[in-house]
Amino acid sequence: MKLVLGVSGGIAAYKAALLLRLFTEAGYEVTVVPTAAALRFVGEPTWAALSGRPVATDVWTSVHEVPHVRLGHEADLVVVAPATADLLARAAHGQADDLLTNTLLTARCPILMAPAMHTEMWTHPATAANVTRLREHGVHVLDPASGRLTGVDTGPGRLPEPEEIFAAAVALVDRDEDGTAPGQGSDRHTPGSADPLAGDLAGRHVVVSAGGTREPLDPVRFLGNRSSGKQGYALAEAAAARGARVTLVSANSDLLVPAGVEVVRIETALELQEAVRAALPGADAVVMAAAVADFRPRDYQDNKIKKTHGEGQQDAAPTIELVRNPDILAGLVAERGTSASPVIVGFAAETGDASGDVLTLARAKLARKGCDLLVANEVGRDVTFGKDDSMVHLLRPDSEEVRTVGPAPKLVVAGAVWDEVADLLTGHGTVPAGQ
Ligand code: CTP
Repeated sequence: MKLVLGVSGGIAAYKAALLLRLFTEAGYEVTVVPTAAALRFVGEPTWAALSGRPVATDVWTSVHEVPHVRLGHEADLVVVAPATADLLARAAHGQADDLLTNTLLTARCPILMAPAMHTEMWTHPATAANVTRLREHGVHVLDPASGRLTGVDTGPGRLPEPEEIFAAAVALVDRDEDGTAPGQGSDRHTPGSADPLAGDLAGRHVVVSAGGTREPLDPVRFLGNRSSGKQGYALAEAAAARGARVTLVSANSDLLVPAGVEVVRIETALELQEAVRAALPGADAVVMAAAVADFRPRDYQDNKIKKTHGEGQQDAAPTIELVRNPDILAGLVAERGTSASPVIVGFAAETGDASGDVLTLARAKLARKGCDLLVANEVGRDVTFGKDDSMVHLLRPDSEEVRTVGPAPKLVVAGAVWDEVADLLTGHGTVPAGQ
């Protein structure tokens, strides 16, 4: 996958270095095209070192390779981050006064721009008109985030976090490959074509559980599991990038909460059940990515259990009695009854065993849980848990078909899950009119 990362001259150029890393780690072949102004913020050696490739800076270098045409022609995706007010203006008017604007004119692949500037510049009618014009040309322009800007000022104009831009880019590539996104060839010049990143989940509320529950034994010990929360957080991030309102019920994860995602932190399975239930009224979908403990210690010891722990039993190891936790997912299905909403998605962490391989066990789990989509992944000490990549099988009760995704970054897996959910939501009719 060949990607051109255009960087224009704003202070947020330093964040593009982090974005570049995300792309290279996900296997993209990235050519960085900084503008002259961008190079005043972050120098060429940084881009060259992080991309592992020469940096294309102007139309006058390697002229025999015709870089002002070649880069755009060969790209599968062009991302501009940050896109300054000046860059938006030049791109909207088809100017070709440097290598980046030349590339934007010659590219026939999807183009994603992430603007960053001061609030006054973003809200100025001239910038608004330029953004409208670019969107009419089929360019995908993200809305900037709100928050602290360069100085003490705050407001809309902040560059979205690198993870969000990455998720939006991955969603764009995915949809383009499915043939469902505008952005190829003549499509891109269809005036008024809808921006798919305006979000097929816009107007939806989704609830995602993530991480691993901990069942306390005493004030310092718990029974837990190896879940890092990465897949659940990636799901939350991808849903937010597609326009959904997201409630993330997070069990014991210290990952960065994606921008725009509301987080509810819990520890145990019972707390998770309560938090999911509280978030659920009116929700369109719930994705249970959390690894929930099936059992908890029957008794919680108020004081730390000592090595010598009972009268006359100094050398004996304590016996810990466990009781069953509720199956939260199965409970959600039962409580939904015959209603089609919310869409309920379960995960199946399987290692395979004597009774069957991962897919056989997943099919049985799908039937047992009664959910609308099951995301089955192979787990083990060195597989999936804590890793950035995973491979999953997506199963639906109404079809024998299995869609396998990966090995791929968890954000890509998340995109595939939301594709299925968006499909299941079609016809559920809970999107407010006009969305
Ligand atoms: N799950 C749940 N409540 C539980 C256990 C699991 O809601 N007490 C959910 C998980 O969030 C996941 C799905 O059920 O979406 C499957 O979890 P998994 O641990 O693979 O399945 P179990 O039902 O625990 O089955 P088993 O461990 O016996 O394979």
